[in-house]
Amino acid sequence: DGTSWMIRDGTVLCEGMSLEHLRRDLQHQYGPGASPVFVYSRAALVHNVRCYLDALSPMGAGGVLAYSLKANGNPRVAATLLEAGVQRATCVSGNEMKVAIKAGFPSNKLIFNGNGKRRWEVEEAVRSGSLLNVDSMFDARRVVEVATEVGVQAKLLLRLNPAIDALTHPYLSTALADCKFGVEESQVKEVLNVLWAARSSVKVEGVHVHLGSAITDLSVYADVMQSVCRVLYQIQKFGWHDAALVNLGGGLGVFPAPHQLPGDHPLALIDNGTPTVPTPTPADLVKVVLPLLPEGATLILEPGRSLVASAGVLMTEILGVKTNGGKVFVVTDAAMTEVIRPALYGSKHPVTHLTQPKVSPLLHRPIRQTDTALEEAAHLVDVVGPVCESGDFLARECRLSPPVTQGDSLLVWMTGAYCFAMASNYNMRPHALEVMVHGSASYKVIRRPQNFDDLMKECQ
Ligand code: LLP
Repeated sequence: DGTSWMIRDGTVLCEGMSLEHLRRDLQHQYGPGASPVFVYSRAALVHNVRCYLDALSPMGAGGVLAYSLKANGNPRVAATLLEAGVQRATCVSGNEMKVAIKAGFPSNKLIFNGNGKRRWEVEEAVRSGSLLNVDSMFDARRVVEVATEVGVQAKLLLRLNPAIDALTHPYLSTALADCKFGVEESQVKEVLNVLWAARSSVKVEGVHVHLGSAITDLSVYADVMQSVCRVLYQIQKFGWHDAALVNLGGGLGVFPAPHQLPGDHPLALIDNGTPTVPTPTPADLVKVVLPLLPEGATLILEPGRSLVASAGVLMTEILGVKTNGGKVFVVTDAAMTEVIRPALYGSKHPVTHLTQPKVSPLLHRPIRQTDTALEEAAHLVDVVGPVCESGDFLARECRLSPPVTQGDSLLVWMTGAYCFAMASNYNMRPHALEVMVHGSASYKVIRRPQNFDDLMKECQ
């Protein structure tokens, strides 16, 4: 999307709005609470939905787009995705279901997924008429019990563990044979037996798999289709003849190579952590799976990251610059409490200046550091936060062009997914505020910053 992020006159714009102006405006309203701040582009969210809908459009009603709410649970973000054309919301807790409903998703358009569902959550999902993923034998028994008691026939997908390596970070692989998710193929029959015995209370409508997250090699989606087809056929043979839903989960990685971005996109210009290998698109994904779908099946995709990651940046202030052991540390007011992904998965989020971002050659000249700035040359720096952990870093060995000055702002890119969603209050740090920009002249604070009283509210 060419309009979401660009550099003009030496500063980064979001939908034409200067982030520097936005920063000052927020500071005026919230004082110290204004930084760090997550800034989302509405146009980027809409664009990301469009990419999926366009990819699915040849399938007509046979292609369904769901949003995995866990990636970003702000109801305004979810509502924007819904307005843009997302049809369902995939939720992993009762509270996520409540957020989806608050955002405007019809209560019967949820997909409730999880390997450990509580009774009240199952009840909520059954009453709403949503789809539930059955993850295990104990899950099947519980759904049967609740549905029988509530007197509503539950609509189910069987979550299959296909024993496939998604070729991603181990923590983001969810379909290996020894992962905790889903039912392995050899146990499918047993689980279906339990469900068939209670068929007046439950109806199996199809299969669900989720291979993992941040996937860049699409061949894994092709690999899973055989077992998906086998299990769907097995379900039909049991007697649910019209079972036709194939939910392939989410998983697309999102780190665009510079040539996949518009020419004036900051990441195309700055190349600070951007990969050179192109990331597959939703169209690439659909192209892989479509020919392998069983005849008459309805395909559900439920991405999280690829709908929201590129729509968000984290804007943070430099608190100071220091060196230790020859290493330069740029200390910001953002920390692992806002962006835990580098510490947890070794993820690389590009970091750039807010103003005067420019490509700088990598020079190994002696470091000259004043008390407040790194003035000379381009250095590999570690961008770190104030949290009392050495694991508290936003970027390691990151190339920032000088000067790197106290009080200046940095942007941490691709932070629309799994950043605020995984935020913590560690070190008594309040949650950051979230802002959505809509055009060059309008923005909305979609979550105010937490304050000390918020942090103390539950203590007694
Ligand atoms: N469907 C299911 C069943 C899932 O478990 C997930 C993500 C998704 C869909 C959405 O996947 P996505 O399109 O976002 O890759 N905290 C990690 C990501 C964990 C994803 C867990 N499941 C991170 O920051 O990378």
